[in-house]
Amino acid sequence: MSVLTSTLSRSQAWELLKQYNKDPFHLQHALTVEGVMKWYAADLGYGDEAEFWGIVGLLHDIDFEEYPDQHCIKAPELLRAGGAGEELIHGVCSHGYGLTVDIKPEHEMEKVLYAADELTGLIWAAAIIRPSKSVMDMEVKSVKKKYKAANFAAGCSREVIEKGAAMLGWDLDTLIEKTILAMRSCEAEINAFMGKLA
Ligand SMILES: [Fe+2]
Repeated sequence: MSVLTSTLSRSQAWELLKQYNKDPFHLQHALTVEGVMKWYAADLGYGDEAEFWGIVGLLHDIDFEEYPDQHCIKAPELLRAGGAGEELIHGVCSHGYGLTVDIKPEHEMEKVLYAADELTGLIWAAAIIRPSKSVMDMEVKSVKKKYKAANFAAGCSREVIEKGAAMLGWDLDTLIEKTILAMRSCEAEINAFMGKLA
């Protein structure tokens, strides 16, 4: 089996992201999904591909800030112009499957991105209103409570999260538990980095 690698280095990917994303909220989300994807790569036995999984996570919403109506449709053009290879482009675009594009998540990396992206947003929204403002003391139970409240982080599609869990063959609790652990693995580093950017 071939190991997925990126045609872009991590620093090239970061520069490319910043060309199209200025909003700190978007940068923070990109970094979070990067960290989450890297954690999942290691957890699922794809440690050799961790950097590639991370870069796909970092760039997955590249077109959203400037082209919200063409999410995952504009991305190939921006990525190609930035030197991204087709595997990276497919990975990014497949997270819009059934929403804006008909590009199905095929690789396990793509299924993880599809399943964890929106959930990451929901867990983050739940974390920042806690006294700790952190996922370090967040448990599955409290995420599930928020998850069930349809008006909490209403933009995070429960349907997508559940479809993603099904693609992976996991129940919802497993997906939430792993994603909390994944977010814990990168929270401190990302907060420190964002603090320096501000
Ligand atoms: Fe996203």
